[in-house]
Amino acid sequence: MKKVESSLEYLRKLFIMPDSPDKFMEFGHAVLEMIHEFFQEKKGLHKKITLPELAQIFDQTSTPEDPHLIRDVLQEIKDKVTVHSVKVGSPHYIGHMTSAVPYFMIFLEIIIAALNQNQVKIETAKASSFVERELIAWMHRIIFNRDEKFYRKNIQNPRIALGNVTSGGTISNLTALMVARERAFPADRNFPGIRKAGVEGALNYYGYSRMVILVSRRGHYSIRKSANLLGLGEKNVINIPADIYNRINIKALRRNIHSIKRSDLERGKKTKIMSIIGVAGTTETGNIDNLMELGDIAREEGAYFHVDAAWGGSALIVNEYRSLFRGIEKADSVSVDAHKLLYCPMAMGIIIFRNEKDLDHLKTISQYVNRPDSVDTGRFTIEGSRPFACLKPWASLKIIGRDGYRLLFGQAREATFTFKRILEESGNFEILNYPELFILNYRLVPQHIMEKLNEWVERKKTLSNRDDIRDLTKKIRKINSVLNNLNVLLQKSIRQDDTTFVSRTTLESTKYRPQRIVVLRAVLINPLINKDILKKIVSTQNNIALKLMDQFEPILKEAIT
Ligand SMILES: Cc1ncc(COP(=O)(O)O)c(C=O)c1O
Repeated sequence: MKKVESSLEYLRKLFIMPDSPDKFMEFGHAVLEMIHEFFQEKKGLHKKITLPELAQIFDQTSTPEDPHLIRDVLQEIKDKVTVHSVKVGSPHYIGHMTSAVPYFMIFLEIIIAALNQNQVKIETAKASSFVERELIAWMHRIIFNRDEKFYRKNIQNPRIALGNVTSGGTISNLTALMVARERAFPADRNFPGIRKAGVEGALNYYGYSRMVILVSRRGHYSIRKSANLLGLGEKNVINIPADIYNRINIKALRRNIHSIKRSDLERGKKTKIMSIIGVAGTTETGNIDNLMELGDIAREEGAYFHVDAAWGGSALIVNEYRSLFRGIEKADSVSVDAHKLLYCPMAMGIIIFRNEKDLDHLKTISQYVNRPDSVDTGRFTIEGSRPFACLKPWASLKIIGRDGYRLLFGQAREATFTFKRILEESGNFEILNYPELFILNYRLVPQHIMEKLNEWVERKKTLSNRDDIRDLTKKIRKINSVLNNLNVLLQKSIRQDDTTFVSRTTLESTKYRPQRIVVLRAVLINPLINKDILKKIVSTQNNIALKLMDQFEPILKEAIT
């Protein structure tokens, strides 16, 4: 690669666009062409290169000394990076929440980079601060639907924040739980509040021995991270069993609360239920907790009610989906990710608070940025410097509109149920969830094994003798553990084949519960998916499965006899 003679004059030209418009346009076209080529290439979802081979490509141990030509580095990006990137936008890639984005998003990203606004303070983010507040007000209204007067008063009120734009669901959840922690241990005349006193000081002052978060087993692992960061300790995230619909089991939640109280009484200690979290929809299965009941329980227990709607929350912009979220208006806060169902590129989340004063709990000021009398959004955020990422959902809500999203979600719903039907018709796959928000869990079960398994599951229901139940349970477990291995191998083989992609997880909440079942996971939101593609995906996976089934036949035979 050609090295460039380093000179300040040359370097200045890299910065000052008006002085180098031809190059800017020339490279701009070259980059767009490179992107276009990447999308046009049809061979597989990523190039067949092993991870150790990739490690060898990127193995230079020292930082480049001399400048290189932009043209050459762009070529290097093309040859080494773009070519080995995952085609998450392909309709055959249906394994993750990261999916296709509309092409105008690429232009929005260019605008964001070119303006280089820093949302932390008004001095570096003028109009963009107002865009952010406007978007936050839209989302607040979509979730909490307060009256026009409330939004008129608060939409651009710099003294409060209805929410924050974040880098994603993890920071949104952390922000919510940080507010929950403040609210659990508020300041009073003799106590400066937990943010000043720390966890030990707060627990001592209020006479508690620990604080806990209650969330279903389907809760996202960012909640554990938050518990770690906030000083609760991961073990104080209590995971409540999910029912067969992958919603939090409300009875189990009540039982758990009861047993916390009983054990507190026995030990002469007190536990503070800091927060009850509802999930809407779950990362693995896309299902939505009973938010109505959770809201009531949180109120009864004096606990902060957070709803993690990082995945599903955007569906609220379409009226048909609102009934799934009944009770969300009881939440103290709600996380929503724009880089999921709003089809924005990585990464942008939003955390919305019902009470416009709640973010005051996190307000932090300094003399060099976010002064006390300033109007800076950075006073309310955990993050410091932040990009103008909110331009993406703000613009896409205009370009696509609520009506456009209705069509996109309609297509995603249709794709989910079409995929389910094709899998069922193929005979070798078992569906293992009840999809609500475009996620389907299934696994390979050879047809003759499925017949046996169904027969055993049905027979088990009719048995009353304990020994008979135990024996049959053992047999079901045995066959399921062979099937677990088979499905791990299937998913790996699908990845190897590289023409389709689904992800994999393990669920304890299926009809075989409490046994943990390996399932394949499809997320069907890409609007380019159609019936023929889905048929092709199933037939490819079925063909791979047939080969594996031959290999597994002796073990399977042994397990069903
Ligand atoms: C329910 C839920 N919460 C939180 C997150 C974390 O979001 P992020 O990866 O944007 O931090 C996810 C991500 O998949 C999620 O599905």
